[in-house]
Amino acid sequence: MAFYAELILNWYDQNKRELPWRALSEQVPDPYHVLISEFMLQQTQVATVIPYYKRFLERFPTLQDLAKAELEEVIAVWSGLGYYVRVRNLHRCAKQLCTMGGKFPQTMEELKALPGIGNYTAAAILAIAFNKAVVPVDGNVERVTARLFGIMEPLPSAKAKCARLAATLNRYGGATERASDFAQALFDIGATICKPKKPLCLLCPLAIRCEALRKNLTDELPRRKPKVTRPVKNGIHFCLMNHTGDVLFRKRPVNGLLGGTLELPGTPWRTQIWSLSEAMSYSPCAVGWHYGGKVKHNFTHFLLNLEIYVYRCDPLPNASNNGSLWYSSVDMVNQPFSTLMRKTVGVGYKAITRLNL
Ligand code: ADE
Repeated sequence: MAFYAELILNWYDQNKRELPWRALSEQVPDPYHVLISEFMLQQTQVATVIPYYKRFLERFPTLQDLAKAELEEVIAVWSGLGYYVRVRNLHRCAKQLCTMGGKFPQTMEELKALPGIGNYTAAAILAIAFNKAVVPVDGNVERVTARLFGIMEPLPSAKAKCARLAATLNRYGGATERASDFAQALFDIGATICKPKKPLCLLCPLAIRCEALRKNLTDELPRRKPKVTRPVKNGIHFCLMNHTGDVLFRKRPVNGLLGGTLELPGTPWRTQIWSLSEAMSYSPCAVGWHYGGKVKHNFTHFLLNLEIYVYRCDPLPNASNNGSLWYSSVDMVNQPFSTLMRKTVGVGYKAITRLNL
């Protein structure tokens, strides 16, 4: 019977996805490209990452370009991709690598000593960029492994077991010489065949070995502990527009949630719902705000409900402008806006038009 690795690599040779961070032909990709793509892919789907990856490399084509850039600019190019702690770590990581002569270390320990690099990313860099025989285990690979070996224990406690079994997949069948392809093949099987819902088992190269398929458990595996419900937080934000169409923003602190991105001024986010009168002390000016609409947003650790109030002014009625900035819609294009704030500003703009302010 064929080894797992043979089945996986033969499938990959026929079916690999063309992705911008992948090397053409037989080569391994540039470690800098792997670093950027793996940071971006840590919490984000491939399809979302692709345009951000291309834009990022256009602006910062080399490790040195990234290390030399101001953090503010790096955040601006990243903005919209979420989980902003990643971009701060990536920038620190690039600086640190440059102080080490711009060469990537090639051991798990040294890679894990760099900012933002944990077990998974270190293994991905070693396997993909340096063809080292390690198997990086992300959510896709966990799912493939849990189904293939019929692991009944729920995640996350089954993580270590999945990792141990995934590490056995490359033992025989030519995978140690093709570690880079092997790691990427597992990602592709996870993403395109062994999908979370409705896996395409008829097309799967591992179907003949799959325990979950044999026991009719593909819909059930991997099992997961029930999620705890996320708390809800509330806030009010103020969309203040002047008559040339500029909108007032402020910058969030660099080190917190959505660090370094721009936002409409507003209240802190809290469990209790805000009344407008309570929120007024956070508004940029004391005017008769109009209700503009709601925005809902899901963060990993909480759900956010925002209410947007709008006002159009000319000239500015005693706005407190401690650090606030006016941006026209043209200036806004290259500014660091989170997806949350893009939605929020969109609601504000629409309300201003609808209310004919
Ligand atoms: N998921 C994480 N890393 C990936 C990669 N290099 N290619 C495709 N999917 C991935």
